[in-house]
Amino acid sequence: MAQLIGGVATSHIPSIGNAIAKGLQQDPYWKPFFDGFPPIRQWLGEQKPDVAVVFYNDHGLNFFLDKMPTFAIGAAPEYRNADEGWGIPTLPPHVGEPDLSWHLINHLVEHEFDLVTCQEMLVDHAFTVPLKLLWPQEHCPVTTVPICINTVQFPLPSAKRVYALGKAVGAAIQSWDSDKRVVVVGTGGLSHQLDGERAGFINKAFDLQFMDSLQNNPEWATQFSIHELVEKTGTQGVELLMWLAMRGALSTGGGTVRKVHGNYHIPISNTATGVLALASEA
Ligand code: DHB
Ligand code: FE
Repeated sequence: MAQLIGGVATSHIPSIGNAIAKGLQQDPYWKPFFDGFPPIRQWLGEQKPDVAVVFYNDHGLNFFLDKMPTFAIGAAPEYRNADEGWGIPTLPPHVGEPDLSWHLINHLVEHEFDLVTCQEMLVDHAFTVPLKLLWPQEHCPVTTVPICINTVQFPLPSAKRVYALGKAVGAAIQSWDSDKRVVVVGTGGLSHQLDGERAGFINKAFDLQFMDSLQNNPEWATQFSIHELVEKTGTQGVELLMWLAMRGALSTGGGTVRKVHGNYHIPISNTATGVLALASEA
């Protein structure tokens, strides 16, 4: 069976794409953010995953307000990138892993998660920027399965539901008849609000408690309703649901994790940024 090696969650801000394109990693503004990644890249280099299952939210590129699935999954041989309007460089297509996609779809639908299946799917900065941060080389060495969770148009799925989705994804990965090694990735957050009266809102205390909870008490965030999460983290801070899905996937079987590395830095653009890598322990 496939082996689930662990998970990584990270923020996904378009301007990071520009900073990478311009080589600004050592620039004083960017360094505290980029410095969070080398220990995680080293761990990935040792673990050598073949496939990344990526929980992220589409920002109006593949899905718009007229058609907004709560959960959607890619089942395509490749995923093309396009810029939904930030002016960041378009990256080459990512290679899919359709066999795992269809295994996930069959398992998830059987377990009452009725996802939209996408045999064509454009991916935005929330998919490409984190993968570039984790694998900066020209050709991304892992194949991919994108899973979109709606955090854009209300109603949003509850934290409890998203955690359960993550758990079902983890169980599906572990029952995939393959000798491949899989890492789960969650992208978004942490606290930020891009518009409205509270534009610029950041909540460091909540972010740090949330990051901490993911190690030993991953259900902690499921006590909050979506509106409470918006209140605590900002309108776009609810993207932390992707972190919860990632952690849910590691909660199957023995379910214990070991922290590989974490970093938290305020701000990049309007966002409190975090990155956290967790290794699965049998
Ligand atoms: C920013 C953050 C996001 O999560 C996003 O999707 C777009 C922009 C920002 O802080 O600029
Ligand atoms: Fe976002």
